[in-house]
Amino acid sequence: MWHFRLWDTQDVALFLSITLYMCHLAGAISIQSPQRSLTRSVQEDVFFSVDVSGHEIPTIQWTFMSAAVSRSIGTWRPGVYTNITVDYRDRVQPYDNGSMGLSDLRLQDAGYYVVTVTETTGSSKDAGFVLKVNEVIYEDLQYLSVSAVVLACLAGLLMLAMWLLDKAYRKIVAWRRVQKMRENDETELQPL
Ligand SMILES: *[C@@H]1O[C@H](CO)[C@@H](O)[C@H](O)[C@H]1NC(C)=O
Ligand SMILES: *[C@@H]1O[C@H](CO)[C@@H](O)[C@H](O)[C@H]1NC(C)=O
Repeated sequence: MWHFRLWDTQDVALFLSITLYMCHLAGAISIQSPQRSLTRSVQEDVFFSVDVSGHEIPTIQWTFMSAAVSRSIGTWRPGVYTNITVDYRDRVQPYDNGSMGLSDLRLQDAGYYVVTVTETTGSSKDAGFVLKVNEVIYEDLQYLSVSAVVLACLAGLLMLAMWLLDKAYRKIVAWRRVQKMRENDETELQPL
């Protein structure tokens, strides 16, 4: 019965445990994220949305990387501890599902954001995001200033028109007065 020896219980146990271990490594952590590339303007907020799932409470670490620097933003274990780097403390909002909110964006915030999820078994997984930060668009401001100039011109024209009308009115009134005085003079002169 050679095939009995081939599949003896020890082999089966070993095979099963290797399979389980591989499944554990491959499938322990999953990171779902709807969007990996985001574009925002200066002073806006951004929300890096992920949903981390695994066998246990994972450790979530966010790191910022650009051409010039690479720095840790923060590390947290939902319900256990939260450690946000001092530079980011006022602007970062950590979430239990691994997501991170970053507010009041600056131009220097443009770059790569990597979330690394680690379990106590040592298995880990990461996902990267790209953030583009645009400067405030000044075309809108230009349009606004042009409109302001146009409005100011219109206001000036209106004021000029009113001043002219007022002057004309005064002239008419004065002319009428003169006319009346002349009439009076004539009527006063007639009986004499
Ligand atoms: C993670 O949680 C936040 C807040 O509860 C939620 O807005 C966001 O959609 C979640 N992300 C995913 C990918 O489920
Ligand atoms: C928080 O993180 C910083 C840098 O990542 C580290 O130096 C510090 O020891 C951490 N603090 C705690 C309480 O874990």
